[in-house]
Amino acid sequence: MHISVIGSGYVGTTIAACFAELGHTVTTIDIDEEIVAALSAGHAPIDEPGLEDLLESHAGDSLEATTSYDAVVESDVTFLAIGTPSNDDGSIDLTALEAAAEATGETLADKENRHLVVIKSTVTPTSIETVLEPAVTRGSGGNENIEVGMNPEFLREGSAVSDFMQPDKLVYGTDSEWATERLHAIYEPLLADHDAHIVETDPATASMIKYANNAFLASKISLVNDLGNICKEFGLDAYEVMEAVGLDDRISERFLRSGVGWGGSCFPKDVNAIIAAAREEGYDPALLEASVEINDRQPERMLELLEHHVALEGSHIAVLGLSFKPRTDDIRNSRAIPVIEKLQDRGAEVVAYDPVAVDPMRERFPDAEYANSAAEALDGADGVAVVTDWDEFAVLDREFDAMDEPVVVDGRRIVERRDGIVYEGLTY
Ligand code: UDX
Repeated sequence: MHISVIGSGYVGTTIAACFAELGHTVTTIDIDEEIVAALSAGHAPIDEPGLEDLLESHAGDSLEATTSYDAVVESDVTFLAIGTPSNDDGSIDLTALEAAAEATGETLADKENRHLVVIKSTVTPTSIETVLEPAVTRGSGGNENIEVGMNPEFLREGSAVSDFMQPDKLVYGTDSEWATERLHAIYEPLLADHDAHIVETDPATASMIKYANNAFLASKISLVNDLGNICKEFGLDAYEVMEAVGLDDRISERFLRSGVGWGGSCFPKDVNAIIAAAREEGYDPALLEASVEINDRQPERMLELLEHHVALEGSHIAVLGLSFKPRTDDIRNSRAIPVIEKLQDRGAEVVAYDPVAVDPMRERFPDAEYANSAAEALDGADGVAVVTDWDEFAVLDREFDAMDEPVVVDGRRIVERRDGIVYEGLTY
């Protein structure tokens, strides 16, 4: 099949490369010439394991990149993978996606064969019917050969290619059997040696499945953090408790790691967007609001634990880990941001270290100090806040001896050394 993918960000680039790997002919379209040049040369604009290899083997062959929408007409199916950022009130900002939908419609105004436009971006349940479908229709002058569907994406950063190739489920949100069959034909090659659940539904339900999925996972972590905070109050180890709880297969052992909370480009944005969309409908989503509140509270609890042992005013505090999770340099909504802010508010000097995310954080906090290694950050520090579970923080040992009286607050239960240091876990 010939597929066009509009938007070469994180999701667009990954799915384009993976569609090519599945044997389809793919054209990516983006307004950013630098990204288009990189993709044309077989280089990934983002750092994602396995992506560069796929691009290298398909670029210039079954995978092309361009800034022109002309390729849309030649294709059978167009995926829109344009970011849906948050407005100030947390609601979804559809401006860029709506413009892309309209431009796609314009390109398809005279198309005589049926064409499927698939929304890959995360959108609220009413977005397709009230904004995106009308935009396509406006652009195409009402060409009835165009149908709009929804196919949400569940990729995680750091494992996006393997998540694509081995999905738990594929969700086809369409209004016709023809569109469902089109989507299925695209994914069929990966089902040859991998079992995935296929969910066939309508576009609005498909949109809600994505939000419900992310809201569930984020709330699972917040619940574990709430329970974990209670464990800490009782002097109990939340990890021991949750390990036993996870043995109940209705709960599962995954996503039970308590600590400083969730961040990243999806959970915060999506939970806030579905909260705003629910409020708009007149519903008060009490549990999701509590999930956000608990998540916002965890960095403060980290600071309170640190303050039990170190007078923060004028102190030097090492912040270890700046990315929102290990194996990425992405700092979007990283818990390190509120941790650094709160330390600075209390008059502490921050010395931050991360194996890959120092540069983006330096832009965010130019007045903090940045170290080249954990050892350098710890040298002479009065306290340590561990925010990201990079493997290298597990084996810090002699590094702590460079501190007069090592005080470590571990937000991820990653540090293995306990002897000879003051060690506080957030939830144990
Ligand atoms: C997430 C979803 O997993 C993915 O399906 C969706 O498409 C995009 O959002 P991602 O943001 O890449 O993916 O990160 P993920 O690995 O899910 O972690 C999210 C956050 O939760 C991280 O900050 C992580 O540190 C935190 N987390 C995760 C916990 O605090 N505890 C856990 O047990 C698991």
